[in-house]
Amino acid sequence: MLPKEAFRGQTVVVTGGGTGLGLETARRFAALGAHLVLASRSSAHLEPAAAELRAAGAEVLTVVTDVRRPNQVAAMKDAALERFGAIDVLVNNAAGNFLCPAEELSPGGWKVVIDIGLNGVFYCSSEVGRHMIGRGRGRIVNVVAAYAWTGGPGTVHSAAAKAGVVAMTRTLAVEWARHGLRVNAVCPGVFDTEGARERLWPTPEQQEALRRTIPVGRFAEPGEIADAILWLSSPWSDYVNGEVLVVDGGQHLGKGLGAG
Ligand code: COA
Repeated sequence: MLPKEAFRGQTVVVTGGGTGLGLETARRFAALGAHLVLASRSSAHLEPAAAELRAAGAEVLTVVTDVRRPNQVAAMKDAALERFGAIDVLVNNAAGNFLCPAEELSPGGWKVVIDIGLNGVFYCSSEVGRHMIGRGRGRIVNVVAAYAWTGGPGTVHSAAAKAGVVAMTRTLAVEWARHGLRVNAVCPGVFDTEGARERLWPTPEQQEALRRTIPVGRFAEPGEIADAILWLSSPWSDYVNGEVLVVDGGQHLGKGLGAG
C-alpha cells in the first residue's frame, strides 16, 4: 500500500510488539525499512519475534517493559534512543483483557486492565511524547476498541480504558499538533489471534456467533489492521489528526434489518 522505502531509517516503538497485532504491525514496518523497538512484558514473546524480523533484515531492539511501570517505560525510551538516536513512531498496542461480568469483576481485575490499557498508554505517550516534542515531530497511533462507545457485555474495564484512550488521542492530538506531532487511533474489528481467541471467543460456536455480527461476513486479517496503523504513521496521512479509524468490516454499525 505504501512505497517500499516509506519508513526507511525511521524508528518505530511497538508496545506488545512480540505477538498478535503488534508483531504483524512490526513486520510491516520492517518490510518498509523501519528499525523496530519491541516492548513487551515477556522476553519469551520478544525474542522469537525479534529473531524473525532480524532474519528478514530489520534492525530490532527488544526491551522487556511492563507499561504499568513508568520507570520501565522511561528505561525503554532511553534504550531506544541509545540504540537508534530518535523515535519517529510510537504504536500503543499493548493491552490486557478478559471477559468478565461487571458484577463479578474484582477491584484488582478492574485495576489491572485500566493500568495496562489506559495508564500504560499515558506513560508511553508522555515519555516518548516529550522526546518527540523536543525533535518537533512524531506520530503516535493508539489501538482502541469499538466497545469504548458501543458498550459490550463483559468489557466494562476494557471499554472504560479504551474510552479513556479515545479521549487521550483527541486531547493529545490538539495539544501537541503545534509541536509537530500527530496522534491518531485505529479501532480494529475482530481478528483471529491466539491471545484474542483464548480470551474472547474460546469455542467454535462463539466464533461463529461473532462472525455473524460482521456485515462483510468474515474476521479481519491482522495485516488489514496493521496497514491502517502504518498509514496513520506515514506522511500520506499528514492532515489526519485526532482521528479514530475504524477497520471492522462495518461491525460497530450493526446490521439493522439485515441481521442473521
Ligand atoms: N476473570 C476475572 N478476573 C481476572 C481474570 C479473569 N479471567 N484474570 C485476572 N483477573 C483478576 C485477578 O483475579 C486479579 O484480581 P484480584 O487481585 O482482585 O484477585 C487481577 O485481575 C490481576 O490478575 P493477575 O493475574 O495478577 O494480573 P496479571 O498482570 O498477571 O495479568 C491480565 C494481566 C489479567 C490482563 C492477563 O489477562 C494478561 O496478562 N493479558 C495479556 C494479554 C492480553 O490480555 N492480550 C489481549 C488479547 S485481546
